[in-house]
Amino acid sequence: MPDAPQPTILLAAYGSRHPRARPAFDALEARIRARFPGHPMAWSFTSRNVRRRLPGTLSPHQALLQLADQGTRRVVVQSLHIIPGGEYDETLAAASALRDRFEAVTVGAPLLASDVDLRRVALALAELAKPDLDAGRAAVFMGHGTEHPGNIWYARLAKELERIDPRLVLDTLEAGNGPTAVVRRLATVGATCVGLHPFLLTAGMHAQHDMAGDDPDSWRSVLATHGIEARPDLRGAAEFPPLADIWLDHLAEALPLLD
Ligand code: CO
Repeated sequence: MPDAPQPTILLAAYGSRHPRARPAFDALEARIRARFPGHPMAWSFTSRNVRRRLPGTLSPHQALLQLADQGTRRVVVQSLHIIPGGEYDETLAAASALRDRFEAVTVGAPLLASDVDLRRVALALAELAKPDLDAGRAAVFMGHGTEHPGNIWYARLAKELERIDPRLVLDTLEAGNGPTAVVRRLATVGATCVGLHPFLLTAGMHAQHDMAGDDPDSWRSVLATHGIEARPDLRGAAEFPPLADIWLDHLAEALPLLD
């Protein structure tokens, strides 16, 4: 097979099988194709659970093996993860393990990987929350969270957001302070109505169920119990161009490393 003129872009996301995640994946893919024309593109999912339920989907390792077998010589693996955590480690490990199968392989950084990213992400979230703030509401962002040391990025981002405006509150579903801590923070700014946004690539299961769902332990329900009306926003980060473009910029930084 003749070598492709442009390096292949292999996207590595956690993955989701929720139908509502599809628009986020499609929007991001269209944005990448428009900015990086001529590059062959492929997807991979780091979640084993998602792959098991979506037949035909591949891990980064499996996708790289397939690309190598197809004769691909140069590939950039772009992490679509939020923080450099376990999923990103796994992506790096796959690229490292299969380095010898390619002329060149490199990995683009996740959303939050430098102090510059931290500031950009905070400003993008502030922009996303502008309609809330303008209407006198606070804005709550629900990230995923992890026991991995990379979890520190959520805490750093929460501080940065608070510096921009104390009505911007971010916490995580796992390994964070939880929705009751969010309620305490909201009390300090006297918020009784908030925009509730997922800080996740897609508005899949966690956004639909854990954030905005009807169960008594969803973030929306916990806030309601404390007299705070939450208005859920069901857009993933990939559907908000100022955030999506940070991943694209990381891809633009990674591509020249193949030369
Ligand atoms: Co999860």
